[in-house]
Parts: sequence; structure tokens; C-alpha cells
Amino acid sequence: MSSLPDGSSTAAAAGPVAVDRARAADVRAIKALVDCYAGPVLLEKTLANLYEDVTEFWVARRGTRVVGCGALHVLWEDIGEIRTVATLPDVRGQGIGHAVCAAIIDEVGRLGLRRLFVLTFEVTFFAGLGFRPIDELDLTPEALTELRSSYDAGVAEFLDLPFVKPNTLGNTRMLLHLDHPPDPSPKRLTAPPSPLPAG
Ligand SMILES: CC(C)(COP(=O)(O)OP(=O)(O)OC[C@H]1O[C@@H](n2cnc3c(N)ncnc32)[C@H](O)[C@@H]1OP(=O)(O)O)[C@@H](O)C(=O)NCCC(=O)NCCS
Repeated sequence: MSSLPDGSSTAAAAGPVAVDRARAADVRAIKALVDCYAGPVLLEKTLANLYEDVTEFWVARRGTRVVGCGALHVLWEDIGEIRTVATLPDVRGQGIGHAVCAAIIDEVGRLGLRRLFVLTFEVTFFAGLGFRPIDELDLTPEALTELRSSYDAGVAEFLDLPFVKPNTLGNTRMLLHLDHPPDPSPKRLTAPPSPLPAG
């Protein structure tokens, strides 16, 4: 578990935030969070989707309240996607999103992935974490063929398949290179974000 003892006075007044892997009991709170943005911003998730994917999720808790979430979906041997990153509207801007992403990026390093993809409207936020916009993704023919057979809606968006284009309109495709594994120290979760090195 990593903790975010605070960046701003608002966060301090409201108490510390802890980021940890999600539990099955968190799924209804994650659903409520995703529902705040589901549609053009985040892919809709049913409870069934979330229970089956709960092992991909991290949550940020303030006390017993789930205030943020995010997920990591491994796509191929060297690449994953960070998805479903959300902070409750009333606690945005307090470092919660960064803390969730930092925990996920630590796991990306532990898994030995070299690249992390995100499809998002939040370009400034992800740029602050070291992500850069991309036009093309370098994937092997084998990876492309295999990924095309996935039933995962997010994978279809990752591949930019024609039938999902209406959902992805206006989103930016971004990539973080993890050539240098991120520092897992929770210290950097307490300060305003300093960009991770982009390779
Ligand atoms: C994107 C999103 C998750 C960010 O959540 P958040 O909790 O507001 O994020 P943070 O507070 O960490 O960062 C937001 C801003 O606050 C600033 N900030 C304030 N206090 C901070 C602190 N203590 N630590 C880090 N950043 C802090 C950051 O610099 C950041 O500025 P930037 O966006 O210009 O980089 C949130 O806006 C959201 O839920 N959006 C809708 C869903 C979405 O689009 N998700 C992304 C697609 S997967």
C-alpha cells in the first residue's frame, strides 16, 4: 500500500489518502465512480465487468470512502494499458489521480513491461506523468493478430478498430516509456508531480 499524506491544505483537512489493490467489496464504489464519467469520457462498465476485472484495479481510499480508482490491463509482453482512472468530482485536484497512477506505474515496472498506453482526454494530466502523444504504435504482426481476437472493448479502442471510432473521437493516444524503472518510493506521491523520464 502507498500513502498520500497530503499535498494541499484541502487534502490535509480531509485526511490522508491510501492507494491499494481493489477488493471485491470495492466494486460497487468503483462502479459509482466510473458512472460519474461513463460515456464519452470513460468506457461504461457493468458490475459483472468490474467483478471479473477487479484484480486489475487499484483504489484510493480516504478513510473508508473510495475516492479514486484506476486499472492496468496487460496487452502484450512489453505493453500495458492504464484505464478507468477516475477521481470523485468533489476531490479532484488533490493528487489522488497521480497517486493511483503512480501505484499502477510501479506495478508496470514490476511486471517488466516497457510501455504503458493510455487513451484519454486528460492530456495535461498524463503528460505530467511522462506520457507523450503518439500517432502510431509499434506492434509485431503476431501481437496485432492476437489482439484483434480479444473480446475486450478497451483492446478494440487500443487497436483503433473502425467500429469503436465513434467512442474514441477526440481522445488522445499517449504512451509512457519505462526504459528506466520508476522509483517505487512513496515519497514522490506526496509532492506535486514531477514528470517521469520519457524514453
Ligand atoms: C484525470 C483524473 C483522474 C485526475 O484526477 P485528480 O485526482 O484530479 O488528479 P490529481 O489531483 O493528481 O492531478 C490533477 C491536477 O492537480 C494537481 N495537483 C494538485 N495537488 C496535487 C498533489 N498533492 N499531488 C499531485 N498533483 C496535484 C496536479 O498537478 C494536476 O495538474 P495537471 O492535470 O495539470 O497535471 C480526473 O480528472 C478524472 O477523474 N477525470 C475523468 C476521468 C478521466 O478522464 N480519466 C482519464 C482517462 S483513463
